[in-house]
Amino acid sequence: MEMKMNLITLFLLLALAFISSSSATDVSFDGRAIIINGERRVLLSGSIHYPRSTPEMWPDLIQKAKDGGLDAIETYVFWDVHEPRRREYNFEESYDLIRFIKTVQEVGLYVVLRIGPYVCAEWNYGGFPVWLHQMPGIQLRTDNEIFKNEMENFTTLIVNMLKQEKLLAPQGGPIIITQIENEYGNAQGPYGEPGKRYLQWCAKMAESLNVGIPWIMCQQADAPQPMINTCNGYYCDSFKPNSPNSPKMWTENWTGWFKAWGGRDPHRPAEDVAYSVARFFQEGGTFQNYYMYHGGTNFGRTAGGPFITTSYDYDAPLDEYGNLRQPKWGHLKQLHAVLKFMEKVLTHGDVTTTDFGNGAKATIYTTTDGNSGCFISNTNTSVDATVNFQGNNYLVPAWSVSILPDCKQEVYNTAKVTTQTSLMVKKPNQAEDEPSQLTWTWRPERLRESLVGLGSFASTGLLEQISTTRDSSDYLWYMTRVVMNENEPDWSKEMILRVNTTGHILHAFFNGKHVGSQYAANGIYKFVLEAPVTIRPGNNYITLLSVTVGLTNYGPFFDLIPAGIVGGPVQLIGNGNVTKDLSSNKWTYKIGLAGEEKELYSENSPLASKWYSDQLPIYRVMSWYQTTFKAALGEEPVVVDLQRMGKGNAWVNGHSIGRYWVANQTAPSDGCNECDYRGPWSPSHCANGCDQPTQRWYHVPRSFLKADQNTLTLFEEFGGNPTEVNFQTITVGTACASVYEGRTLELSCQGSHTISHIEFASYGDAQGTCGSFQKGTCEADNTLALVQQACVGQKSCSIDVSEDVLGPNKCSNTPSKLVVQAVC
Ligand code: GAL
Repeated sequence: MEMKMNLITLFLLLALAFISSSSATDVSFDGRAIIINGERRVLLSGSIHYPRSTPEMWPDLIQKAKDGGLDAIETYVFWDVHEPRRREYNFEESYDLIRFIKTVQEVGLYVVLRIGPYVCAEWNYGGFPVWLHQMPGIQLRTDNEIFKNEMENFTTLIVNMLKQEKLLAPQGGPIIITQIENEYGNAQGPYGEPGKRYLQWCAKMAESLNVGIPWIMCQQADAPQPMINTCNGYYCDSFKPNSPNSPKMWTENWTGWFKAWGGRDPHRPAEDVAYSVARFFQEGGTFQNYYMYHGGTNFGRTAGGPFITTSYDYDAPLDEYGNLRQPKWGHLKQLHAVLKFMEKVLTHGDVTTTDFGNGAKATIYTTTDGNSGCFISNTNTSVDATVNFQGNNYLVPAWSVSILPDCKQEVYNTAKVTTQTSLMVKKPNQAEDEPSQLTWTWRPERLRESLVGLGSFASTGLLEQISTTRDSSDYLWYMTRVVMNENEPDWSKEMILRVNTTGHILHAFFNGKHVGSQYAANGIYKFVLEAPVTIRPGNNYITLLSVTVGLTNYGPFFDLIPAGIVGGPVQLIGNGNVTKDLSSNKWTYKIGLAGEEKELYSENSPLASKWYSDQLPIYRVMSWYQTTFKAALGEEPVVVDLQRMGKGNAWVNGHSIGRYWVANQTAPSDGCNECDYRGPWSPSHCANGCDQPTQRWYHVPRSFLKADQNTLTLFEEFGGNPTEVNFQTITVGTACASVYEGRTLELSCQGSHTISHIEFASYGDAQGTCGSFQKGTCEADNTLALVQQACVGQKSCSIDVSEDVLGPNKCSNTPSKLVVQAVC
């Protein structure tokens, strides 16, 4: 009996050892591709930054990435949130890096981990903890012992955590690639020789961590071997790695762009993203990562900048809330399937090309076993090409790539979108017994002490803001007193207060009264505020509130860019331009708001029961507002519509949902919504959202909400009207598709809803776009009824586009298509 037990135990132990050793993944590379377990791979990856969503959202986001045909999820590691104070660490909730990586592993994808730990990423201070800035003698991102010691300490900590949790591929984990630094090559020049030494040090330090998988450096043409230098940009087809032994890798294909307060909403069309990807693989690329695949939200004060918005939607294939952005998601999914099908020829084939002139070119990959796969590209920005290739004619629209996996049949063209377009709608999110208008309470921000110059410390002269607050708050009060005497020769009753500041926002008070507010515009953060003031004999109090809106995250020496009224000058200007310079006065200072200190957004605030319920002020500066609400249950993403609010911060049940700045509007400008996908894309091309707030809706993750009562708290600094604030859910409203003969039209409500009716259906030559289709001249008679029958009441439906299914139409010389617009 005992013998039998021992044998069983031995067998189990052997089996376990076998399982764990067999799950180890070997990752290497050659000049062609990343090699996984001996096989060269085509790898498609997408960026999802874990702190920009919640752990509750991660499984769904990652599953949608997998369904979209990705192999890997890429993320940075965000040093500032993990080490908020030196040697004090936080890996909780949205900052739970290990849980995120394990979630990716559970869904069955690889991880590309860009440790940085400088990340850029439109993240506050580029991901550096601001305490670094305070260390005596430190210089960031250069050959400086103090900095290198901190960087090595954090990087080693992360790598040790990964090893301990067995997350590296050779340990059976999902991580196949690691990155050190980020785009140092773009900033390196001004750092001179120490910069070059730092770069070499980064490579050596990374290597010494023995991760057993490849290291990459992006935008680093002089990356030393065996670091693989990779490309970032909108197009990377002409990129060449710096060694014949490195594969051609693209770490950031920008799927759109970020938004800045006051700016428009960038939109990069699906056709152009697909074009850039197809061109990259046509030209020998084998690894490509979408930056971002899901952009998400800059919660709290994590947005970088200055002036990066709270939404980091990025026009990515998954929208800020995690919904499929269609047609982008689906159009790329189809492309991924084709590229995967061609994996062998792309990673092993010999390459020949045929040039047809005028921007048209064929690339033929052929393997020794006789398989081949082809691309025909047309890089001309306006002229479509008809090319005769190996005996067949192909129409290749301008700025597009056709893919022929067998070199005969075109199965994909980047400009021919067959995936549905989804138009999202917002619906009121109200529990049944809730009144339609929220009931508000309020409190003034306590200004009493600040208005008479009482601070927590004093200094001669005007201090730099970031060094003073250490970024513990956006807000810094600068206060001084000036004695004016009616008998002095330069006395005048009416004067101008003039403040020179390096930004980002300034509110000025004089003798207890608000006299002006101003903010940086057009990307220039230095500005001058001028406000008329009335002088009184004796003491006059000047109180200035300087506000940062995200710290700079990019550029050489970005960490040294100042904020606040550093140095001023601050002057009073009276008759005949006589100025009284207050810059070298004794100034008193206070960091942060009284309401922040008292945590007014928290139910545990000592002032929680002290909100006023009458005489709700509107458009009043420096005001706190609070309301309770019930959220309707369900799974659809929730947003709060902060229309008519000015600028400030918002919290739901004590969780900061980020800064808001609804009053910062984009300028009206012509052609805002027109979009031609052809030609090199840039953020101003195809942008949306002219003449409206840059961001009006703010994401409230479901996991922040409670089933019964919820609390929304707003701090408003410029003045706003909360009475129209309301909660909404976001869902697919309309789904459209337009598909040519021979293919299948597919429509889906992408969630729990079913198709309620068909607004438009035509099998023929209909024109227009989703939301505004027009009938053609030769369509079939019975299409609407057929489509209704197939789709109404269904969550999704598919129809083969053929005469057999749809009956004859009268189109003789135009290719016919089925066009449908459905309501979910
Ligand atoms: C890159 C950088 C990313 C991100 C991107 C723009 O230069 O590496 O972190 O900032 O630009 O979104």
